[in-house]
Amino acid sequence: MLHIGVLTISDKGSRGEREDRSGQAIQEVVATLPAQVARYTIVPDEKDEIYRMLVAWADAGDLDIILTTGGTGLSPRDVTPEATLSAIEKQVPGIAEAMRRESLLKTPFAMLSRAVAGVRGRTLIVNMPGSPAAVRECLEVIVPVLPHAVATLRGEVGDHGRAG
Ligand code: MTE
Repeated sequence: MLHIGVLTISDKGSRGEREDRSGQAIQEVVATLPAQVARYTIVPDEKDEIYRMLVAWADAGDLDIILTTGGTGLSPRDVTPEATLSAIEKQVPGIAEAMRRESLLKTPFAMLSRAVAGVRGRTLIVNMPGSPAAVRECLEVIVPVLPHAVATLRGEVGDHGRAG
């Protein structure tokens, strides 16, 4: 059972002015997995707030994965990757590379997402873009490797094992 935190990053969503459809999309996908959403919240596109939430959640020790949605693009308010890079200790570039590679087959705009992924402590943090379609497309790419990633982070298997 994977324990997942869903962090939606949206100015309008945090003010209650927009329904969090991408956060809901993540919850719907997680409901189909041997996983549960253990934490969920919305924060505005503020680097410090995003950073503080990622650190608090990762350091609480109860989450295997934090999935973020939103704030990865080029608008002046988009700072999710910067906040994430401050919070993580190691990047996992292949996750972002794989999401962009597959997403580019769907839309050339995928190259505008600056999403990053990495590890803080034993928690894997993955950025995804802010649209429900993008979230579904990105999750389709990464879901198959998440059990193994988490088992490795928990120390249950070595990097070369195939458990999970
Ligand atoms: N990736 C996938 N798979 N599907 C999409 O529809 N939209 C792109 C891109 N990545 C998209 C995608 C668009 S239009 C933008 S602007 C960037 O993600 C950044 O989105 P964000 O600012 O909401 O994070």
